[in-house]
Parts: sequence; C-alpha cells; structure tokens
Amino acid sequence: MCGIIGVVRKSGNAAEEVFQGLLRLEYRGYDSAGMSALDGGKICTVKRGGRVSNLMPEAERLKGSTAIGHTRWATHGEPNDTNAHPHCSGKFSVVHNGIIENYRQLKEELSDGGATFASDTDSEVIVKLIDFYYKGDALKAVARAAARLQGSFALGVLCADREGIIAVKYKSPAVVGFDGNGAVLCSDIPALPASVTSVCVPEDGDIAEITAETVTFYDSKLTPVNRVRRPIFPEQFTLGQGGYPHYMIKEIHEAERTVAETCGGFFRNVDVKRLTEYVRGADRIIITGCGTAYNAGLAAKSYFTEKCGVFCQVEIASELRYSPPKVTPATLVIAVTQSGETADTIEAVSALKRAGARVVAVTNCGYSQITRVAHLVVPVCAGAEVCVAATKSYIGQLAALYLMAKLTEDLFTAQEELTLAGAGIGELLKSEANAEEIARQCAKSSAVFFLGRGLDYAVAVEASLKLKEVSYVFSDGYPAGELKHGTLALIDENTLSVVVICNPALAEKCCNAVSQIISRRGKVAVITCLADVAEKLKASAAVWLLPQCSAVLSPFVSAVALQLVAYKTAVLLGRDPDKPRNLAKSVTVE
Ligand code: M6R
Repeated sequence: MCGIIGVVRKSGNAAEEVFQGLLRLEYRGYDSAGMSALDGGKICTVKRGGRVSNLMPEAERLKGSTAIGHTRWATHGEPNDTNAHPHCSGKFSVVHNGIIENYRQLKEELSDGGATFASDTDSEVIVKLIDFYYKGDALKAVARAAARLQGSFALGVLCADREGIIAVKYKSPAVVGFDGNGAVLCSDIPALPASVTSVCVPEDGDIAEITAETVTFYDSKLTPVNRVRRPIFPEQFTLGQGGYPHYMIKEIHEAERTVAETCGGFFRNVDVKRLTEYVRGADRIIITGCGTAYNAGLAAKSYFTEKCGVFCQVEIASELRYSPPKVTPATLVIAVTQSGETADTIEAVSALKRAGARVVAVTNCGYSQITRVAHLVVPVCAGAEVCVAATKSYIGQLAALYLMAKLTEDLFTAQEELTLAGAGIGELLKSEANAEEIARQCAKSSAVFFLGRGLDYAVAVEASLKLKEVSYVFSDGYPAGELKHGTLALIDENTLSVVVICNPALAEKCCNAVSQIISRRGKVAVITCLADVAEKLKASAAVWLLPQCSAVLSPFVSAVALQLVAYKTAVLLGRDPDKPRNLAKSVTVE
C-alpha cells in the first residue's frame, strides 16, 4: 500500500540508493513512482505513472546526499504522472503512505486561503499544509501540519532550507535503519539496504529528525522521546530471485523450509508456557485475518476444534471490526497476518483487546505493528515474501497454527508430523507436470470452481483466491456440498471444477459432486492424496495423485499443488504473477 523510502548520507549519492530502494519496495504498490533529491539547497523531483523503472533515465541525473522516494498503490486519483508522489509546494517535497480522511475539508480550507492543487490525491494537502505553516522552522511546520491530519500516514519530508529528512509515523508502517554512512527511512525492514545493521521502530505519533549524523525522535508535541535501537540480522532466506523466473515460484519452493523454520522458531522464541495457558484456558477462540491469512484461519479452525475441543470461529477482520462479539479474558483472539501491518486486522484485534480478550499474533514480520498490539507473538519464519500472492507464508501460518492447536496434546508429535508434511511438499515439487496440465485447462476455461469438504474446503477457498489474483481467471471456492444449492447452475463445458479430496471419510460424497459436474458436461480436475479415489476417477477427470499424507496435514501438500497451478496459469496467460494488477503486498489502508 505505497512504499516510502528516504536516505541521508555522509558521503555518496542518496538518490541512487533511493532508486534501488524503490525497486525493492515495489511489492507495496506499482501504479506510479517518484523521487526528490536535495542538492545544494535545491530540490529536484522526477515522477512517472507506471513502474519504478519508468523513472529512468531522469532518475540517474538526480544527485545529493539526501533523497526521498515513493512507489504508489493508488487510493485517490488515477495512476498518472501528476498524481505520483512526491508532491511539492514552496520549499517542501513530501512522500506519503496512508490515507488522509479529512483531505476534502483541508483542501477547501487551503484553497480558500489561495492554495492551488495540481493532483487529485489526498496526499497533496499534506505538503500544502506544511508550506502554509512554515515560518522558518521546518520541524514545527511538519508537527503543526501532522496535528491537523486524520487517517493514517507515514511521511518523508524534504525542506530546501535544511539537510536531512523529517519523518512522521501514524498508523502506517515506518522504520529508521542505521549503517556507518547515515540513516534510511523505509516502510518495511526487508526493503532496507543490506548495509543496515540496526533499526528504530517509531511509535504512532512520532516525528523523527533524520540527519546523516543523528536521528532524534519527538512526540507529536515535539518533546524528545527515546526509541530503542535494535540490531537486525541478515535474512536467512536470500532476497533476489535466486535463478527462478519469478519470486512466486521461488517462494513456493521455500515452503518446505518455511515449515521447518517455523517449528524451530516456535520452540526457540515462543513463551510456550504462557501460550499453553492461553490455549488451555480459552472457552472460545476467534481467528481473524484478511485474504490468505483468513483462509489459513479457516483451515486452523478444524485444528482447534478437533485438538482442543473448544468453540472456534473464523472472522474476516474487516467485518469483525464493525460487529465485535462480546469477549471475556477467556476469549482467545488469534490475529493471522503475514505483514503484521494489515490495517483491518490491527483495528479488529485492538478493539477486542480493549474489550478484555487475549490476543496472539501469528506473523511473519517481527517488528510489525501487530506485535505491539498482541499479548504474545507466534512467529511464522518464512523469510521475506516479495511476491504479492502469499504462498510460503500461508504454509508457515498453517504450521504455526497447528503447533498452537497441539499445545493441548503433544508438541513433540506435532513437530514430527510437520516434518512429514514438509517432506510431502518437497516430494510434490519434484514433478510439476500435473500442475501444468491443470493450468492449461484453467487458462482456457471461462470460470474455475474449487470445491472440497472440511479442510479440503479451506484449501479450495485459498486456491481460488490464488488463481484469480495472479491469472485474472474468474474463480470461486465452494464447500462441495453447496454445489447443488446454486453453483451447479453455472457449470457447462467451458468451466473447470477442481475438486480437492484428501479426507477418506468425506471422499465418497466428494466423488458424488464430481459425477454431478460431469453429468452437466463440466470439466473436472481432481487433487487427491488417496490412491483409491485417483483410481476411481481417472477415467472421467484429470487426476493429480499427491504424495501420501494424513488428512489433517494434507493442506500443506494440496495447497502447494494449487499454488503451482495458479502460478503456471498466470505464466501461460502472460501475466506477471509477482505483481498482479491493482494489488499490493501489505494493505495498510482500511
Ligand atoms: O499481510 P497480511 O497477511 O495481513 O495480508 C492479508 C491479505 O492482504 C493477503 O493475504 C492477500 O490476500 C494476499 N495477497 C493473497 O495472496
């Protein structure tokens, strides 16, 4: 949801580093991009609609020891050169991630005072406000402007009268990284330059004065505050595509390792005693998240219901926050979020925490906002996930949630089971021929329906999201039993139904669904771990027999199989699977 970066250097060209940083941040939005550099008291700006690469060759001409940059996911105003950030006014240039909810009112007020606006964005009011309040002290002007803003904002501000950057953080993510040559403001830790060895994570409302020598943090009233500087360590998972044509396929291939690392992280870093008390003491569990994270919760619901025997519900975070249920200290709320920055998830669980519930965050990002909201954190150790589509992080979420559910039984067997599930993924990824065959069918279908029962239903819903997100083929995920209650009306010879059958107890009923679809001349592909089901259906459907796996752990293997199908369909149709149109990696606006 927009990426911002700012670099202040003792020596060297900050503009060049900002450009490289924007390339790393592009997963946060890729509708337009821009940068400003401060050189000898003059700000030079370049901005363009489209991808960061469109800034070349002009970006190459920017020089200076201080620079800021922005890659945009459009909320207000179409993605074009004018609406691209930075926005400039007087002596200021500003990049913004977030949404200014009261921008209409501010725009009106500023226009009445004579200000003119070039863009359709909400963000332009910020720079106009700062310019309006500027009487020679940029820090004061920024603080006064920030106090007028409602919504969410991480800002990087350049002023032609002073070296360095002024940053503001409120509800949108921002970190300040340090190396021997100055400091870097950035939306996300993984997008910091490799030279950075430590970071400060500002609190909401903080204003930071960033120079090449020092970084000073203030609260919103400009009283200095202390923010802890923590070391960061090089990623265990390498950034870069590592020889793969796309991040998506690279990250699918990192799923087995993610399971192992997540188990390791659980035993090393989680306060297991306290977490066990939370899980055992819960009279009700609410799992919440958005998109893929919500879908991981759907699968985990069976884990908690079966293993802990406790009532468990799964709620979409953007809905939950507007209809919060009654909670008590015995209500355990589990927030699942890869980025830890998803605004809807943070708002929903913050409200439930205020109402008295216990909150556990299952997240892939250690210093993220959700870790500050939750009472306890269970890490997903997937390493940086760059592709917008969540793949390895979903598998890591399943592993973390499975371990949590097994806290009431036996953690040792859980670890053994997950090792087997990981091995199943490794085995599956040795051959991709079946995925290719199903992808060819997906690519030529007018719609693709994913069906399953129980855990297979949870996998079907996630498979559908993955396919539509990266290939733009229309798709839906359904409980197989619901087919005859509506979806059957859509089945014809141009549709493909992918039926997931990994639970022997439910297999017969799913085979009935296959027959019903075939009778309506619909095409069918079957994803199964069960040899007898494969044998029975191979004459009438394309069947992919997955490595053998227990029903409870089958989502680890079947979900990866369907991630491969989505990836291959996208490639066949000439889509960019890493950067699907209109989307961004972390959704920090509501
Ligand atoms: O960072 P989060 O896990 O909170 O993100 C939630 C969703 O935005 C995310 O899972 C989204 O649905 C993915 N792009 C799907 O692949």
